[in-house]
Amino acid sequence: MTGKETKGETRGEARGTTPPSRDGRIPVAVLGATGAVGQRFVSLLDGHPWFRVTALAASERSAGKRYADVTRWFIDQPMPEWAAAMEVIPCEPGLDARIAFSGLDSSVAGAIESAFARAGCAVVSNSRNHRMDPQVPLLVAEINADHLSLVDEQKVRYGGRGFIVTNPNCSTVGLVMSLAPLHRALGIQKVIASTMQAVSGAGYPGVPSADILDNVIPYIGQEEEKMESETLKILGSARAAATFAVSAHCNRVHVSDGHTLTVSIQTATKATPEEATSILRDAPNPLAGLGLPSLPEKPIVVRGEPDRPQPRFDRMAGKGMTVSVGRVRRCPVLDLKYVALVHNTIRGAAGVAILNAELLKVKGYL
Ligand SMILES: NC(=O)c1ccc[n+]([C@@H]2O[C@H](COP(=O)([O-])OP(=O)(O)OC[C@H]3O[C@@H](n4cnc5c(N)ncnc54)[C@H](OP(=O)(O)O)[C@@H]3O)[C@@H](O)[C@H]2O)c1
Repeated sequence: MTGKETKGETRGEARGTTPPSRDGRIPVAVLGATGAVGQRFVSLLDGHPWFRVTALAASERSAGKRYADVTRWFIDQPMPEWAAAMEVIPCEPGLDARIAFSGLDSSVAGAIESAFARAGCAVVSNSRNHRMDPQVPLLVAEINADHLSLVDEQKVRYGGRGFIVTNPNCSTVGLVMSLAPLHRALGIQKVIASTMQAVSGAGYPGVPSADILDNVIPYIGQEEEKMESETLKILGSARAAATFAVSAHCNRVHVSDGHTLTVSIQTATKATPEEATSILRDAPNPLAGLGLPSLPEKPIVVRGEPDRPQPRFDRMAGKGMTVSVGRVRRCPVLDLKYVALVHNTIRGAAGVAILNAELLKVKGYL
């Protein structure tokens, strides 16, 4: 039986939280609402003070059915009652939505997202299709908000109000959030990063249990290439990617949520592990004071224990929006090395997309 055939089994009971209402909040659609990232969107948008979910869209397989009947819910919070009762609709433009959050499979995301942008939507996407387009910001709100200037260049292409903003691959988010303060302070010259990536990163049903139990799979298709190119685009300017060398090794491990990365870096200015720890710990948050609802108090925390961060204990730091770093120490090959942990479907996907959309709102792009 395939995963799609099991989707009628809804785990988690519907909950009676505030339904979206016509109260001045911005209407938003979730494209790919039935998938792993789509479910995170639904969960994180429940009760959002600025955004009201008006449409849940997925493939023709799910369209026309109740969300609760076609979604194999595997988030540890109950499915919101308003979402459970909504009818899933096809991913076709013309919805009552100013923002289309996309958790679409990359086999279809490119064309569908372009169609929504042409129809005047602000598309905020998790998919890889438009990430490396030179006119599309690849955005992690705290790091490269200045790249939003690219949105104006899309006006000709999409004819007015519509545009696309993307967020990076889940592992890249953890890497760039930890690299950014070090790059600003010391100048990164080389990076070697190895990942231990959770199974939820492959969506549902994802990796077969017979493959992943008692195992490590040292290959995730196109993941290393994405980490290497996306990191440079984010840490460069809006016009030119950074030029340092990045080498990624990506592995799938039997963890449910939370990607762990071990990272070695060479820097132009040399620093001790203690100095690097202070740089990470004291990194200023350029968005503090903007009142963004999804902004964590601390984008990065540095743990002092010798055996942290660990996915089971640290992935929900800052409600899943904080990247945990630990074991900052000397690297005998490059200069410094450390461990980083990112919640792949929150900070690495739906959470960063919602934060990016909040930034779009306060910067006047909506
Ligand atoms: N999982 C992560 O940690 C993560 C992190 C960052 C980025 N991403 C990216 O986010 C995207 C979604 O990933 P996921 O893990 O959530 O995948 P997933 O669980 O497989 O969900 C895919 C979604 O796309 C929809 N879909 C598939 N074919 C479609 C079609 N022809 N027309 C319209 N909708 C269609 C599916 O709807 P049905 O249920 O109706 O088939 C489902 O809602 C991918 O591009 C992925 O690379 C994932």
